Order: sequence, then structure tokens, then C-alpha cells
Amino acid sequence: MQLKQLQAFHAVAKSQSFSAAVAMTELSQPTLSRLIKQLEDEIGAELIDRYHRPLQLTPAGEFFYEKSLSLLAELDTITAMTQRMAHPPKTLRIGFVPSVLYGLLPNIIGVLKRQLPELEVQLKDISSYQQLEALKSGEIDVGFGRFAQQDNWVQQILLRHERYIVALPVDHPLAGVNDLRLPQLADNRLILYHQSHLNNTAVGQVTEPLLNLFDRYGVLPFATTTVSDLQVALGLVAAGEGITLVPDSLKTLRSEQVRYQTLLHEDATSPIYLNTLYEIAHPAYPAFLDTIYQVYEDKGITYRRR
Ligand code: BEZ
Repeated sequence: MQLKQLQAFHAVAKSQSFSAAVAMTELSQPTLSRLIKQLEDEIGAELIDRYHRPLQLTPAGEFFYEKSLSLLAELDTITAMTQRMAHPPKTLRIGFVPSVLYGLLPNIIGVLKRQLPELEVQLKDISSYQQLEALKSGEIDVGFGRFAQQDNWVQQILLRHERYIVALPVDHPLAGVNDLRLPQLADNRLILYHQSHLNNTAVGQVTEPLLNLFDRYGVLPFATTTVSDLQVALGLVAAGEGITLVPDSLKTLRSEQVRYQTLLHEDATSPIYLNTLYEIAHPAYPAFLDTIYQVYEDKGITYRRR
């Protein structure tokens, strides 16, 4: 089986049209048809039902398409990584989730720039989940996220756990009370702001981080509202629509309209992960990691050293 045959089949399967696949692949229509016919002959199964418009895959074609998608994605990753190995990027491209921007990221970049003044740095706001794809495609060199994820290519270094604090409307009865316990918050609408794909609940398992934390304490908030990001969540808290939990470094946000109170539970934390590829590191990566540890030391922050 040849790669070209596989690519031709995927182009047709994705676009459901031979003419759109011609534009995608820059192959002529006869070449595309020939490659797909060769593939079908080799496998011994018809993959495309050519009698319907738009074109459809046969059940065998559907199966082959689904199962071979990851092969092509893997090849794209290997190609992008090989290119980076041959031509290491000069600019250090850093992906980050917004919540780390309110914490130490600006300090870390400042120290890094003083230590390596010739290094160019680019910052890209990108979700924890998308960071994995961005690392593999070469869009970013390192990423800072808040979720543990599994990927064969990506290593995650847990930098530290940041305590959650409670964000409350200024006129909330608990607005002046520190060392809150989660059960005390149960009667409130909890505003959720993590990525929606993480809100799906597997059977018997709560994966949304805030709900998961409440669940660990046997608390089910009386109602929830899910919004697209943390700024919106704090806006709703300011408007008196509910409460939320945010990492401690956000305690200066909207401080005139939102009160932040501590939680008693020491394990109510949000992790910060440094995401990188296992096999390819940007030339400035070792210095970057040292800079992060140095900022932690300078600020007296408890962290995990690798
Ligand atoms: C931190 O707050 O620990 C942190 C934030 C951004 C990058 C690295 C660390």
C-alpha cells in the first residue's frame, strides 16, 4: 500500500467529492481515481460508493477511514518534528492558558529576556487541550496548561499546585469570611468556565475540575452555569449571578466588584503543567526551565523540581 493511495482516499472521503479532492491534493482526477482503485484492489473491498451524490463511503470505507486517520496524523507529527530537528526554530513560541498570564508568566518572560536578550519570544493564548496538537504540529515549542493529559509524544512536567480561592459578589453573605469549606458553598449557583470538552462526564466520573473538586467533598452545587472563559465567569460573579473558584493568582481581577476568600482545604488546588515534546526540545528550553525555577525561588513559592 502506498502513502499516495491513502492520501487520495482521505482527500475524497473528507471532501465527499472527487473535484474538491482534486483541488485539495493537486492531483488530476484520473490519477486520484486510479490511486483509489488501486487501494480498493489491494484491500479487496470497495471503499467509496460512487453512485451517490455527495459521494459516500461504504461501511468498509468508513471503517478504513476512521482507523487510518490516526496513521496520517502520526505521519504529519513525525514530519513536523523531523523538520524542527533539522531546522531548530530561533523564536521560542510559548502557548499558555489565560489563567497563567495573571500569575507568574510575565515575570518569567521578563527574567528570560534579561538572561537571553537575543532570544525572540512569541506568546500564544491556547487551551490546554489544543496545546498538544500545537506542540506536535510545531506551532508552539512549550505550553503552560492546567490539565493532566495523555499523549505519546507530549511530556508534562507538573510545576506546582496553586490554591483555589472563592470569588463572591461583594454583597454575598460569605464575602467577608475566610477559610471557607466547600459544603458552605453548596447553596450557590456555581459558574463553570473550563473547556466544554472536559465537561462531559464519563460514567461515574466527574471531569469538570470544579465539579470534580466539589464531588470529592460530597457536595453537589444547587445549580451551575457554564461560560466560555474565566473573565466571563468573573463578570457573572460581579453581576451577582453566582460564585466560582479561581486560582489564587487571579485575586486582583475585578477586585472592586468581586470579593476573594480563601478555602480551608489544602488540596483544593489547580495544577500548572509545562507541556513539551519528549523527543525535541527548543535550544532555549533548559535555560527557560531554569528561569521558571529561579522565579519560584525568588518569590519563595513552593514548587516541584524535576
Ligand atoms: C506559575 O504561576 O507557576 C506559572 C505561570 C506561568 C508559567 C509558569 C509558571
